[in-house]
Amino acid sequence: MSSNTQSLDVTIIGGGMITNDLLLPSLFHLQRTGVVAKIAICALDSPPLKALAESREFQDAFPGQGFTPHPSLKDAPEKKFPELYKEVVAAMAPGNMVVVAMPDHLHNEVVRQALEHEQNVLCVKPLVLQHEQAVEIQKLAAERGRFVGIEYHKRFDRRSLVARRGYSLGQFGAFVMGEAKLIEPYYYRFSNFQNWFTCQHTDPFTYIGCHYVDLVYFITGLKPVEVSVQGVKGRFPNGNEAYLWSHGRVTWENGALLSVINGLGYPDAAAGSNDQGLIMYCEGEGETGLIFHDDHNRGVAYSYLEGIGPGGSKYNYVSPDFFRLVPWEGAGYKPIGYGYDSVAGITATMQRMNSEAAGLAPEAALARRQQFLREVDARGLIATPANSSINELVVEAARLSILNRAAPVRIVYGDHPHVE
Ligand SMILES: NC(=O)c1ccc[n+]([C@@H]2O[C@H](COP(=O)([O-])OP(=O)(O)OC[C@H]3O[C@@H](n4cnc5c(N)ncnc54)[C@H](O)[C@@H]3O)[C@@H](O)[C@H]2O)c1
Repeated sequence: MSSNTQSLDVTIIGGGMITNDLLLPSLFHLQRTGVVAKIAICALDSPPLKALAESREFQDAFPGQGFTPHPSLKDAPEKKFPELYKEVVAAMAPGNMVVVAMPDHLHNEVVRQALEHEQNVLCVKPLVLQHEQAVEIQKLAAERGRFVGIEYHKRFDRRSLVARRGYSLGQFGAFVMGEAKLIEPYYYRFSNFQNWFTCQHTDPFTYIGCHYVDLVYFITGLKPVEVSVQGVKGRFPNGNEAYLWSHGRVTWENGALLSVINGLGYPDAAAGSNDQGLIMYCEGEGETGLIFHDDHNRGVAYSYLEGIGPGGSKYNYVSPDFFRLVPWEGAGYKPIGYGYDSVAGITATMQRMNSEAAGLAPEAALARRQQFLREVDARGLIATPANSSINELVVEAARLSILNRAAPVRIVYGDHPHVE
């Protein structure tokens, strides 16, 4: 990184749904605005890469843009390359960006690998499934002066940002009782999820409940101290057993309670694309306050002529807020929404860190980057291993609880935060 505004080369690891729906189109747009230089994608095998490369939607939105696939599109579709990402990351010049977008239980190894090769990391949530691993990642990132941003995009939803500011100004009182839900569509059961979303690896609370737990922490600054999660098991079409539904209760350090319901079962025929929202009641002086976010029906409904909505539906609640490709001043379409804002915010922060350290001698550059990381941690807007590891504690507690039929699991803070 020599000049002050150098673009970042990006390698995305994982070519699945989140890469298609959010990461790649966001990075394509950042490529044309000059934040990102080359884009490579490494997947387990060639079929998802082929689908991304041939996507009509991307060709229309980002004419003339593309990515380098690993493995090559010519490799036999059934041939697997579980270790290929190691070579691809090792071949990157230092100070660029690795995007981790593979199944949750693989994040730890890949994030570490990227840091050991001096890369900055954007990791989809959850960072890792164990708090101890998050602590190690934080240490490694701090030592090397490399940035790890966890892509909790709900933080970038304008309503979350407004609520965070209002809460910090005392406009609502103290959070006391709340309810969050996020029910993903039924059709998810037919996706690649059936291969990894199994009881021993994850569950709906861990997969999506964490978004709202993170959001309550983001809005209030309160830490969760106890978690209890009950799961409802079922089978995927391929026969794998999974928790298809979950019901969680999170207790916060001030005694507040949050119910969290999650599942893979929002009806395909319903007006989707999923069901989600948050209600938080707060105690004030002589009155109560309320935060209510309907994240499901944001006031826009379309009835299409063809069944092009999620799950093949015609009538849909459409969210213009998360991610949409829309006309802009340039060629094709541009992404808008808090999903894009989150990816762009994390990527631009890495670029800014590199710019601030550019031209300094290696030791001074490292010190500058380390100082920059501490500032991002303290600001608390972008989730980092240092400022969001309550999420790992919650996930760890939730996994323990759901595997033990909703046993309450406590989170203990102090010098060595842990669950018990
Ligand atoms: N709202 C969100 O923030 C959100 C939404 C969806 C997914 N996610 C997260 O994104 C991650 C991936 O989810 P998804 O829905 O895209 O899953 P997916 O099953 O659709 O895709 C997983 C991808 O990982 C790749 N992969 C697996 N092993 C690999 C290996 N050894 N080397 C290279 N690639 C490998 C597969 O090829 C596949 O392309 C998960 O951690 C999930 O929790 C976050």
